[in-house]
Amino acid sequence: MRTNGRNFLNDNASMTANPFLQGNFAPVREEVTADDLTVIGELPPEMDGMFVRNGPNPQFRPIKNHHWFEGDGMLHGVRIRGGRAGYRNRYIHTPGWRAENAAGRALYGSILDPLGVPVLLRMMRNWLKHLPMIKNTANTALVCHDGRLLALWEGGEPHEIQVPSLDTVCSYTYGGKLKHQFTAHPKVDAATGEMLFFGYSPFKPSVQYSVVNAQGRIISTTSIDIQRPVMMHDFAITPRYSIFMDLPFTASIKRMLRGQPLLKFEPQLGARLGILPRHGRGQDIKWFEVSPCYVFHTLNAYEDGDEVVLLACRTEEFPDSFFMPPSASANDGAMIGKEFAPVMYRWRLNLKTGTAREEALDDVPTEFPRINEGLVGSRTRYGYTLNINEPNELLKYDFEKGRHARHGHGKMRIGGEAIFAPRPNARAEDDGWLLTYVHDEENGISELIVIEAQDFSAPPLARVRIPARVPYGFHGAWIPGEMLAS
Ligand SMILES: [Fe+2]
Repeated sequence: MRTNGRNFLNDNASMTANPFLQGNFAPVREEVTADDLTVIGELPPEMDGMFVRNGPNPQFRPIKNHHWFEGDGMLHGVRIRGGRAGYRNRYIHTPGWRAENAAGRALYGSILDPLGVPVLLRMMRNWLKHLPMIKNTANTALVCHDGRLLALWEGGEPHEIQVPSLDTVCSYTYGGKLKHQFTAHPKVDAATGEMLFFGYSPFKPSVQYSVVNAQGRIISTTSIDIQRPVMMHDFAITPRYSIFMDLPFTASIKRMLRGQPLLKFEPQLGARLGILPRHGRGQDIKWFEVSPCYVFHTLNAYEDGDEVVLLACRTEEFPDSFFMPPSASANDGAMIGKEFAPVMYRWRLNLKTGTAREEALDDVPTEFPRINEGLVGSRTRYGYTLNINEPNELLKYDFEKGRHARHGHGKMRIGGEAIFAPRPNARAEDDGWLLTYVHDEENGISELIVIEAQDFSAPPLARVRIPARVPYGFHGAWIPGEMLAS
């Protein structure tokens, strides 16, 4: 095992009672490289690729406030080949990360800081140093497209990452053609090779939508008007359409100036889903009124006759404390309260009649939905999620049978989003494996677990011991071996 020996945080990492810096939310200090990891069980010999997960890992002690979403992006990857596994974790070297690294301290504040003179002075100081006004942490998700791995953050441009080294190349702007923010959840259509993505701003009542062709060039960008600035974290696609979610999690600078949160759930304002032809112009969008809700993540969408069907994890309530300093939150430090209870949900949007039908498919609070990514936009039978009430449990939805199976990690073993990796020459939608990091809260050990997707409730095929702590994080990706070889 090799570590670079650099301590990125002050020794008193527990300097505050901030829950986002405690326990397994606390950042790790070292970048580690380790081969021939201990495997409990057996890795499938035909498995060849790299599981990489993104997440926040603040390089330095925050100036004042800090939210979990704001830490510098760090990638944790496990390369699997020939039944063996190796691990490495690397910071994503964004311009903000480099500037703070050179300064030896944090230069950026927090979304939780009250908007006032200190914040404005800090922003001005960064601007005078030719630094971005807001730090793009690249900490949220990953996408593979056109043979390139990109680390994503929805407020700015992607960053290109080398594989399997996980070294940062630089920010990636499609030769300067990228003119807007880039969602953390673009969609790659495996059939056409296109990638669809959008970007939104908390300051503008519009969304920019772009298409990247299979050769990796942006071929179109169009603007879609929405009613007010909102947080729009995800969208969905079908072969012919892109589906946008204009949901009432509003962004308001005026509200922030009054000392209240920038973002707030306002269900009284109503909610809409919009369907746009994939290569259409923004004004071609057709909106459907739906019951007020919020959705962080879609599972998938597909076409069914005249209907476009959308599946997602939907909540009717959203705690104000989500974007408030933890000490001020009603639930005393928890990021989200009990009122955040997204469930698997389905909308049927009829393009002929303009009507929307909607229904909950389950009552288990669940999030981090994933599918076999090779089937994005077509009717998929299976979906994989994390039980957010009991995050030591994954769920496998079978939408044909209308039920879910459970996979428990064990007591006090907390897992994250599960990524589906198809078996080479797979013969069925769920012919492959699910991978996720699991952290044992009792002994502090982190593992990558590999589950046979067709035998979901069985114990993992393999538990790969990670020789370092892997903090809780966000989204990951499976990078097939052929991309690593090239
Ligand atoms: Fe996300």
